[in-house]
Amino acid sequence: MTQREDETEQREEHLLHPPRRSWAEPWKIKVVEPIKVTTREYRAKAIRDAGYNTFLLRSEDVYIDLLTDSGTSAMSDWQWAGMMQGDEAYAGSRNFYHLEDAVREYFGYKHLVPTHQGRGAEHILSQIMIEPGQHVPNNMYFTTTRFHQEYAGGIFHDVIIDEAHDPAAEHPFKGDVDLSKLETLIKEVGADNIAYVSVAATVNMAGGQPISMASIKAVRELTGEHGIHLFLDATRVVENAYFIQQREEGYADVPVEEIVRKFCSYTDGCTMSGKKDALVNIGGWLAVNDEEIFDKARNMVVVFEGLHTYGGMAGRDMEAMARGIVESVQDDYIRARVGQVEYLGDLLHQWGVPTVVPIGGHAVFLDAKQFYPHMPHDHLPAQTLAAELYIDSGVRSMERGIVSAGRDPETGDHRYPALELVRLTIPRRVYTQAHMGATAG
Ligand code: F0G
Repeated sequence: MTQREDETEQREEHLLHPPRRSWAEPWKIKVVEPIKVTTREYRAKAIRDAGYNTFLLRSEDVYIDLLTDSGTSAMSDWQWAGMMQGDEAYAGSRNFYHLEDAVREYFGYKHLVPTHQGRGAEHILSQIMIEPGQHVPNNMYFTTTRFHQEYAGGIFHDVIIDEAHDPAAEHPFKGDVDLSKLETLIKEVGADNIAYVSVAATVNMAGGQPISMASIKAVRELTGEHGIHLFLDATRVVENAYFIQQREEGYADVPVEEIVRKFCSYTDGCTMSGKKDALVNIGGWLAVNDEEIFDKARNMVVVFEGLHTYGGMAGRDMEAMARGIVESVQDDYIRARVGQVEYLGDLLHQWGVPTVVPIGGHAVFLDAKQFYPHMPHDHLPAQTLAAELYIDSGVRSMERGIVSAGRDPETGDHRYPALELVRLTIPRRVYTQAHMGATAG
């Protein structure tokens, strides 16, 4: 090779893999949506009218909407182009097959059952897998996941490590399963009485905390010994894979795409809310390897969601999700996504604002108990903080504490979770660094 050819090759290599110093976004903005700036008096009235519940605010009255990262992503031009190629046939839409290919390629599961969103998949899985009275261990809980498990007659157990319940504990993988808790439960109730083990990546209610590859592998080994199924809530598994790449030994040079596949390979299937990592505004799926479970799920989806080749989604929505999956596992994208969340967390730390540490993948969680140390738990500190934040700044956040934890179905009393948090959730590819600055200020 001549020197000139060599230089050209090096230049090309540089273009493909430029050395990156910042998390700056690998995209630019093509369409914008104006947002309304309101006065403090206006917001005080709006939140009073909403009963001090940020869910009941009108989105038009919100300046920066950090209620959720669910269904709030900005789609790419490639996804919008795919929307125009929606095949709206009742059965056998080509977009279903594109989605099936994407799930097989990037998540590695054999069979796909589309659903209108994540909870649709949770409903079907819970109904198929849980016999009333059976136990379902989880790494903490998500509201709809736990509801569907209990609705199917399951008994919920939290087997996450203790550090997850301590907002100040600096553990790189606070979503890890405590194997001894899981083993004790299996011994106590017997493997036959465990419907399946349910593991979420990342753990939303713990603050968006990841679970390590080592932990999912260990859970697989233990459940494998006892013939217990292991299902994943893959809603934010790409963000989880990014944390594995950054924090777990041996993964620094492994592409996120590969980490996702490997992580999923330890599980028997997953439920998915496509509204988060998969970069769409609506959609979800259930994916499984087992033929028998697939058969049952395919029969059930028809009555609760829609025919097994659309499951409640339009063809165009399936296409957008198939393309969103491809975009979501690109290293540069996910680095910018989590980088922005960490940026907001760092700004808040500079101001001395108490947050859950480490900063999670999709959100910064404020520790409401530290804002109001004298407020009794049943006076709803996180709900109070969310309302005050809105009045002060027009930023909408979400309560993640005693209100979200729900009431005990037997006693009707609060569940009193250890964590009393306010979530500032960052939509994907929507807000700028200046918006993060305005939020922190
Ligand atoms: N699992 C997790 C971990 C979730 O965060 C969600 C939704 C679901 C399942 C249910 O999916 O909404 O598509 O039915 N979380 C949203 C949130 C609502 O704001 O965190 P879905």
